[in-house]
Amino acid sequence: MKPPPSIVLGIESSCDEMAASVVRDGREIVSSVIHGQEEVHRPYGGVVPELASRDHVRAITRVVELALERAEITQAELTGIAVTAGPGLVGSLLVGLSFGKALAYRLGIPVVGVHHLQGHLIAAELSDPDLARPYVGLVVSGGHTALYRVHEEGEPSLLGETRDDAAGEAFDKVAKLLGLGFPGGPAVSKAALEGDPKAVDFPRPMAKRPGLGFSYSGLKTAVAVEVEGRSGLDALSEKDVADIAASFEAAATDILVLKARRALRDEGLAALAVVGGVAANRRLRGEMERAGKKHDFGVVFPPISLCTDNAAMIAAAGARLLAEGHADALDLNAFSRVPVGEAPWREGEASSAPAST
Ligand code: KG4
Ligand code: ZN
Repeated sequence: MKPPPSIVLGIESSCDEMAASVVRDGREIVSSVIHGQEEVHRPYGGVVPELASRDHVRAITRVVELALERAEITQAELTGIAVTAGPGLVGSLLVGLSFGKALAYRLGIPVVGVHHLQGHLIAAELSDPDLARPYVGLVVSGGHTALYRVHEEGEPSLLGETRDDAAGEAFDKVAKLLGLGFPGGPAVSKAALEGDPKAVDFPRPMAKRPGLGFSYSGLKTAVAVEVEGRSGLDALSEKDVADIAASFEAAATDILVLKARRALRDEGLAALAVVGGVAANRRLRGEMERAGKKHDFGVVFPPISLCTDNAAMIAAAGARLLAEGHADALDLNAFSRVPVGEAPWREGEASSAPAST
């Protein structure tokens, strides 16, 4: 007998986005609401954790209400609640978790904690039902830069990751160095449109080393040295800024293309999913697709609304967990750091995924 349809409410609040979404049967996004906090953090040039959690408290009720209204469903129709339990800012995570648990308790439905990166990876499958496992998943966000093998059953295992900064973090820091403001990724990318990507020959860190590790802190330093070498930010013309932005973007994306190709080759796979906030980058999308055509692999980039933080990916990942019989107790807690494939919040349940390092 076919199981009754699942209608899962997802809640995501791991960083500076408060998001809620209703997903039907783990696949169909019925609504997706995202409340950003750019205005809150812009004066500080980066996310201030305490301010992020306070804004989440103010926003969460309305964001969840809106997700239900837009989905045209009532709370009583929900069959489960999925909420990000980590990794992320603990204060931010706790807002979504407390709300999700309280609502699940009141409605008498299960709640399940979701790994934020598992959510990012599932965004690719949500956006392209033809994406067949196993495939290589590249997660590039503000907090993570890592390659995974996503196995037949859907669980990821780590192939390699950054040893220092994440790619998105490098975009954000370079934006600061170039006086481009916050949030940095889109600002650098916009400035780069007017620049020459070959103007400055920035290093491609870890390119020559074997393996699938990344390093972005040296690249950021190279940009700082370049700015200083031209007598500082105030001495830069608009063209200088555009050239440095474009050259940085070229170096940052070249590395991602090179390592993704290496992962595909090592794993003997021909399908790649690129997810996370940096997957919104136009140059990365273009270069990866070009490499795919040239070297014969398929590339899936979710639409931009599913690349950056959102709750549809959390609802979809949670729906899968609930369908597999996982649910969490009401003492479900937040974790700032969690290797992918692990769920330390799930009582006595060890990772169901192959060990990740
Ligand atoms: O996945 P996400 O929304 O949040 C995290 O889980 O970190 O990713 C945010 C990151 C930020 O560092 C932001 O600067 C970067 O993604 N980003 C971009 C672009 N849009 C967002 N980086 C490069 N180019 C973009 N167009
Ligand atoms: Zn994220």
